[in-house]
Amino acid sequence: MHQFINELEKHEGKEVTLKGWVYNARFGANHAFIEMRDGTGFAPCVVAKDDVGETLFETAKKLTRESSFAIKGTVSKDDRAKGGYEIIASNIEIYNYAKDYPIKVNEAEHGVRHLADRRHLWLRSKRQWAIMRVRNEIIMGIHEFFQKEGFLQMDSPIFTGNAAEGTTDLFGTDFFGDPAYLAQTGQLYGEAMCMAQGKIYTFGPTFRAEKSDTPRHLAEFWMIEPEMAFYTNEMNMDLIEKFTRHVVNRCLANCKNELEILERDISRLETVNQDYPRVPYTEAIQILRGEKDVNGKNAIQVQKDDLAAAQQGIEEKTKDIAEREKAIKGGMKKGARKFNEAKILSLRSEIATLEEACRNIPKWIESAQNFKHGEDFGNSDETVLTRVFDAPVMVYNWPTKIKAFYMKEVEGNPDYVKGVDLLAPDGYGEVVGGSERETDIDVLVQKIKDHNLPMEPFEWYLDLRRFGSVPHSGFGLGLERMVRWICGIHHLRETIPFPRRYGRLLP
Ligand code: 4AD
Ligand code: MG
Repeated sequence: MHQFINELEKHEGKEVTLKGWVYNARFGANHAFIEMRDGTGFAPCVVAKDDVGETLFETAKKLTRESSFAIKGTVSKDDRAKGGYEIIASNIEIYNYAKDYPIKVNEAEHGVRHLADRRHLWLRSKRQWAIMRVRNEIIMGIHEFFQKEGFLQMDSPIFTGNAAEGTTDLFGTDFFGDPAYLAQTGQLYGEAMCMAQGKIYTFGPTFRAEKSDTPRHLAEFWMIEPEMAFYTNEMNMDLIEKFTRHVVNRCLANCKNELEILERDISRLETVNQDYPRVPYTEAIQILRGEKDVNGKNAIQVQKDDLAAAQQGIEEKTKDIAEREKAIKGGMKKGARKFNEAKILSLRSEIATLEEACRNIPKWIESAQNFKHGEDFGNSDETVLTRVFDAPVMVYNWPTKIKAFYMKEVEGNPDYVKGVDLLAPDGYGEVVGGSERETDIDVLVQKIKDHNLPMEPFEWYLDLRRFGSVPHSGFGLGLERMVRWICGIHHLRETIPFPRRYGRLLP
C-alpha cells in the first residue's frame, strides 16, 4: 500500500511511496524539483542526481506537467514547504507521460473559455481542487446539521407535472407522451413529506432554464430544502441563521488549507458568528435608497466613500508603479528587478479591479436611489444593502406580487407575504430563499389562478390543506451559491464539477 500527502506528518523521517501527478516541475543540472499532487494534497519532491543515479535522474527530467508517477523517498521536514514536508527521492516510476498538457500552472494566462472547455482537466488545478474540497465539506456540514437536529432526508422527484417557482424558466420534457418539467424545486413534495415526518430536508438537483449568462445562475444546481411542520417564519429565520452559521464554521475549522489557497479573507466569513440582522422589505428599501441609516451608516454615502477610496487607490498605485519603473530603468540587480517587475504586475491587476469598481459604483448608486417599491432586488442592490451591515442579512415580508404562489400572506396585509431571503455580505447576495406556507385553501386556490397555473396538477398539493393542515415553513439553500460565498469566488461556473448553464452543455 502507498501513502498519501495529507498524512506525511505521520511518516516524518521515514520512507514512503506516493502515487500521483506532476503539478509543476523545475530542473537544475543536478536536481529535479517536482511538485506532486495526489488528490489529498500537494508536496514538493526533490530528485538529486547523487541520490538516484544518472539513469533515474534522466528519467525524472522527462517528467512533464500532469505526467503520472510513483515516487519513493524519505519524508523530511521543511518549513519553506507549504505542507511543511518534502520528499527526498530514492526511486521514481513513471505511469504515463503527459504530452503538451493544455493548462498552465498560472491559469490567469488562459481565457475563461479555454479553461471551461477543458473542465475535465481544469478540475486538477490547485484552485479547483480547493473549491471541490470546500464543496464536499459544505455537503457534510449540511447533512450533519440536519441529522443532528432530527430532520429526515428525503428525495423528491425530478420529473414533475407542474411549475412551482414561476413558469418563465421551466425546462420542458416529454414523459411517455405527456408534458413534464424538470423540477425547479422539491418543496411541494417536501411539504407532503413533512406532514408525514415532521421535519425533513431534500438534497437534490434542481433545474431552471435561466436564459442569461450571469455569474450567479446555473441551469442545473443543487438545492437543500428543509420543511418543518408547526414552524412560523420567525422560527424559520432562527433555523436559517443557526444552519448557515454551522456550515460556515465547519468549513473554517476543517478547510484552512483550502481557504488559504483560495486567498479567502477569513474574517469576512467569521461575521456569521454575529446575530444576523432581520429587516422587513419596506425598511430594507429605505436603507437601500439612503433614506434610513443603519448604525450611523448610510448606504449611498458608503458607496460614495468606497468610490473615493477606489479612486485614491488607483492614484497611489499608479504612482507606485511609475516609481518602480523608474528605479528599474536606473539599473538594479536581477533579483531586485524580478521582484519589482512582479510587484508591478500585481499592482496593475489591483488597479484593474479598482477601475471596475469605479465603473460599477455610480451605476449601483443610481439603481439604489431609483429603487421602486415592489421591485425585486438586483445583484447590485443586494451588494449595496448588505454593505451597511457586517453579518449576513435576512430580508422578510416581501411584496406578494413578486413572490411564489405558496407563500403565506401577512395577517391583515395581503400585499405582503411571509417570505425571507438570506443575503450574504460582500456582493455574494441571495443564498437562501424561504417562507411560511399558505395554509388557507381558498387563498391558495385563488393564488394558483392568479399565477395562471393549471389547477389539476396541484390537486394533490391542495390535499395537504384538506387533511390535517398545519402552519409550516421551509427554505431552500442554493449549494453553489454557498460554495461561491464561502470560497469567495465570483462565478458559479467554478462551484460545481461540471456546470450546466446557458451556452454550456460540454464537457
Ligand atoms: O429562492 P428560490 O427560487 O426558492 C425556492 O426554490 C423555494 N422553493 C425554496 C423553499 O422555500 N423550499 O431558490 C432557493 C435558492 C436561492 O436562494 C439560490 O440560492 C438558489 O436556490 N438558486 C439558484 N442557484 C443557482 N442558479 C440558479 N438559477 C438559482 N436559482 C435559485
Ligand atoms: Mg429567491
